[in-house]
Amino acid sequence: MELTRQKIAEIRRKIEQKDSVFAEKRYLDSMCNISKIIGREIESEKILSSIMSLQDGFVVPFVSVYGRSGSGKSTVVKFVCENLSDVISYRFVNLRKVQTIFGCANLILGNLGSTSLSSAVGLNKAVDCIQSQIELILEQEQKKYFVLVLDEYDVIFSDSRGNPSDFVYKLLQMEENLREKDKWLCMISISNNALQEYDLDDRVKSRMGSTYVSFSPYSKSDILGILQDRSERAFKIPVHKDVLEYCSSLSSSDHGDARRALDLLRTAGEICDGTITRENIDSALKLLQKDRASEILASSTYHMRCVAASICSLAILGEQPWSATSAIYKKYSDMVAKNEKPLSYRRVSDLLVELENSGLVVSRAYSRGRHGYGKEYKLKISPELVGPSIGKEWFDGVIRDKEIQDELEDLKKSLGPKRANMIARYAKMMSD
Ligand SMILES: Nc1ncnc2c1ncn2[C@@H]1O[C@H](COP(=O)(O)OP(=O)(O)OP(=O)(O)O)[C@@H](O)[C@H]1O
Ligand SMILES: [Mg+2]
Repeated sequence: MELTRQKIAEIRRKIEQKDSVFAEKRYLDSMCNISKIIGREIESEKILSSIMSLQDGFVVPFVSVYGRSGSGKSTVVKFVCENLSDVISYRFVNLRKVQTIFGCANLILGNLGSTSLSSAVGLNKAVDCIQSQIELILEQEQKKYFVLVLDEYDVIFSDSRGNPSDFVYKLLQMEENLREKDKWLCMISISNNALQEYDLDDRVKSRMGSTYVSFSPYSKSDILGILQDRSERAFKIPVHKDVLEYCSSLSSSDHGDARRALDLLRTAGEICDGTITRENIDSALKLLQKDRASEILASSTYHMRCVAASICSLAILGEQPWSATSAIYKKYSDMVAKNEKPLSYRRVSDLLVELENSGLVVSRAYSRGRHGYGKEYKLKISPELVGPSIGKEWFDGVIRDKEIQDELEDLKKSLGPKRANMIARYAKMMSD
């Protein structure tokens, strides 16, 4: 299709029409800098009191802030620091893109206004440089207290060749060195799990102290509060309370993630016809779930996709959402291409855990009588939405099989099982 001036004008009109419900859409962007935090008072107070204890000469060297995605960790920590800037100097470093521990030290240095170092100089030298930069900033800003926030801190544990314990130890040593110079440092790490759960030496754990601030997933009323506040500013016409409640209820029961709740409301605004309805929220949810499934599956390996395909096909053909690991494994083994060697049962069990961590499936334990307990899995998103992302042709085949299965059931009812099975066998022979 040719892209003409006229076509561009048409697309522009369509986008403008879509955006006509928004007054300031940026308020529904989770990246937008917000000036108001809804709730999270207990968590904010804990963080504040750890930082402020520096003024009393008591150091909390490490505060570990942890919790599920979208629970407001980064937003709240940033907000607290901003509001203490009259007494502290602080830097907020997001480590998401870092691959090694040395890369992490370099990123911290960059945020402190220094140039990167070559890894040949070693980690000791890098931590010395971090210390010098902190001293410099404190002198320039004429402060005594420094807060170093290390967001997405869990990445340091994925550096298989590095030594996370040693890095944390060096940072703690740096804090002590600074203290001797009457400069006070508090480090705040933000991660999905508590630092205590990661593999760190006991001596490091004990020096880190035990100041933890946990962020639980948002409840329905928390999310409603956030959505009410944002929607008042984001939309031209107020969104009905009933619709906001519905959106909050879906978001809290599924994930308690404020970021995804904001995405849901924004997407509903983009597809609505002037005013947002519950149906728009349902459609938006389907769209987002489909995007999410495609995103997860696009970055999955061949075998992971086969495992997902097995659960999907069992759900459609078996007509019930939950499938036991053994059934999934059998289906998976049948499905793997002739030129590929199927993975072991154990490896497939690992892949199922990975799929659960990615948010595509959920698991539950079920009793196998005297054989103990087994695990079964279910897609979190409807199989009709996941299937096409695995492979359009394959999924069309599953739907065709389902239709044949249904027709056979109808035949069984009208002709009796014996004659129906005979017809099915004959039909199969003809198609082979
Ligand atoms: N209490 C809140 N009040 C207002 N907005 C909030 C609140 N909590 C979260 N948000 C909004 O939700 C978005 C996601 O929150 P945030 O980035 O802080 O989550 P997170 O816990 O750091 O997640 P991740 O683990 O994925 O980094 C924020 O950009 C912000 O817009
Ligand atoms: Mg964050």
